[in-house]
Amino acid sequence: MEISKEQGFNTFRRAKIAMIGAGMIGGNLALMAAQKNLGDIVLFDVVESLPQGKALDLYESTAVDGLNSVITGTNNYKDISGADIVIITAGIARKPGMSRDDLLNTNAGIMKTVAENVKKYASEAFVIVISNPLDAMVYLFQKVSGFKRERVIGMAGVLDAARFRTFISMETGISVEDINAFVLGGHGDTMVPLSRYSTLAGIPLPDFPGMTPEKIAAMEDRTRKGGGEIVALLKTGSAFYAPAASAIAMTESIIHDKKRIFPAAALCKGEYGFNDLFIGVPVVLGGRGVEKIIEVKLTESEQAALKESASSVEELVEVLGKMGYV
Ligand code: APR
Repeated sequence: MEISKEQGFNTFRRAKIAMIGAGMIGGNLALMAAQKNLGDIVLFDVVESLPQGKALDLYESTAVDGLNSVITGTNNYKDISGADIVIITAGIARKPGMSRDDLLNTNAGIMKTVAENVKKYASEAFVIVISNPLDAMVYLFQKVSGFKRERVIGMAGVLDAARFRTFISMETGISVEDINAFVLGGHGDTMVPLSRYSTLAGIPLPDFPGMTPEKIAAMEDRTRKGGGEIVALLKTGSAFYAPAASAIAMTESIIHDKKRIFPAAALCKGEYGFNDLFIGVPVVLGGRGVEKIIEVKLTESEQAALKESASSVEELVEVLGKMGYV
């Protein structure tokens, strides 16, 4: 006997998560989302049969692991209909010698098409953008889709903070679990790692035994250049495991209404003195998406560094305007 859904009691359903771009990050996003039982997954890509192949392989892995995600691949936007969460990695990845900004031209055209289709088929979704140059791409997505700012967020700060935390762990030998790091600004070489707000089990990094200003400066610098370090090593693409893990942490916080604080690119309307700009700031991520932007007091030099970082994002947004995208 099939049990009727019309009997007057509430029913739950699995979340639907759509990945736009089934490349290196897209595939790992799907794997990690399935392993955490976050919901059913749709992998979309323009390359024929690639998302179908990856999805089937991933789906078959769920049988081994005893997971309950239905994973499908598609070249048709219609299949993302009704998605609760959309994670966008569509675009080309950085090659050695290319800055994130070199990517602007190609990826802007791709992002415009993606935004139009997400608006058409998944107008209620929360959207996490990963494609680079991140701050400009998430801005473009929001302008083209017209989605409320609570629903659109760029993944950069979680990754940058994860890199900073890793370097602090390498330097001190302390578990990453007990290390928190704080990064502000654009996702580029001008990002602003904030050491005095970075802690080891609550102890501010500058106060940790054995820590010196030189060691901190070296770790901050490596964090700023963290993406380029991976590109130089891989030679054929950019980082994918840590970016995927970072976006999945954000997805979990929304789906489970965790209300965690993450550094992420959010649309500022007056916060930190920025108007109509997506830039990395601390946000509360919960069931209503970006529930709050947390403003902390910055020193003069931190403020100046953040302003400089913002001006490099503003330049890219200006270029988008000149190209007629926004
Ligand atoms: N619509 C959907 N997908 C697209 C489109 C498009 N118009 N154009 C390209 N793609 C797909 C590609 O076919 C590819 O499968 O996007 C995918 C990108 O995957 P990768 O090249 O493997 O790149 P990845 O490492 O996943 O990085 C994706 O994230 O960190 C950023 O700089 C990185 O912008 C890049 C993005």
